[in-house]
Amino acid sequence: MKGKILKLLKDNKEDFISGEKISQQLNVSRTSIWKYIKQLKEEGYNIESVSRKGYRLISSPDILTSEEITPYLNTEYIGRKILHFDSIDSTNIKAKEFAQRGEEEGTVIISEEQTKGRGRLGRSWASPKGEGIWMSIILKPNINPMDASKVTQIGAAAVCNSINEMGIDALIKWPNDIVLNRKKVCGILTEMSAELNIINYIVIGIGINANIRKFPEDIKDMATSLKLEIGNTISRKKLVGKILNNFEELYNELVNNNSISKSLNICRKKSILLGNKVKIISRNQEIIGKAIDITNEGELIIETENGKREKLISGEVSV
Ligand code: BTN
Repeated sequence: MKGKILKLLKDNKEDFISGEKISQQLNVSRTSIWKYIKQLKEEGYNIESVSRKGYRLISSPDILTSEEITPYLNTEYIGRKILHFDSIDSTNIKAKEFAQRGEEEGTVIISEEQTKGRGRLGRSWASPKGEGIWMSIILKPNINPMDASKVTQIGAAAVCNSINEMGIDALIKWPNDIVLNRKKVCGILTEMSAELNIINYIVIGIGINANIRKFPEDIKDMATSLKLEIGNTISRKKLVGKILNNFEELYNELVNNNSISKSLNICRKKSILLGNKVKIISRNQEIIGKAIDITNEGELIIETENGKREKLISGEVSV
């Protein structure tokens, strides 16, 4: 009901809407309306209430709830259910719990803060309150578990495209980082529950340093935020909307045509690696060479100094 009242207020932004009208349209008592308005105000909505005129929405808080993100969505199923938290351990952990209990494909878990944000290779991921986008998407694709890493490429392409659509020139550092001015602004952590030839679920966790104001000394040469690089606060809800829209389009190609060609074209075009000398640690082995291409399966092709070509499915890369 609270969401419906908020929608009415948003749809009538220019004007007051009377308690009577809300009550008639939503079949709810005036006292309940007053309680919901009070709750909305506590969440940070600035709502003017004038006797005999009703309520008018002046401004909305910068929070990543379903009500705030939905106006930016044009998806069919990705992000049509958003579970929003103020603070949780990790959106990936929560998403896995929900997926395990039968949550449907496309549901998104978002938290304003993570107290145990997780990065790749068992690292931690700093997720300060209200300053980033910490979210996980639940997926249940009917594909071979061997192809699960393709979802990471889709995620990287969707995030890079979306940041680019905001007028920011981010690049992709294969396989799962987005960089801006050579520093990391986004990391992706894809996790899966599968049997030999069937996927139970995939959770793709996306962490974007959107408006972080300061980084600790030890990582400030490697990590940055969109805000620090462009000098402006960015609209997190708009960016989330764009990511979910881009993600659905690219993910549909995988589930409908078993192809990720659109994502790979973005990954190639926006790659910070291709054509450059790179050092990659993959499966405890260090490989130095020139990044040549990304295959149609999403593997990175490296040409080593002795002219040998290697295909890698994942790894830690430095340029
Ligand atoms: C990495 O680059 O190491 C991956 C970082 C992934 C961070 C995101 S934030 C949302 C989701 N929840 C987590 O605990 N981790 C991912």
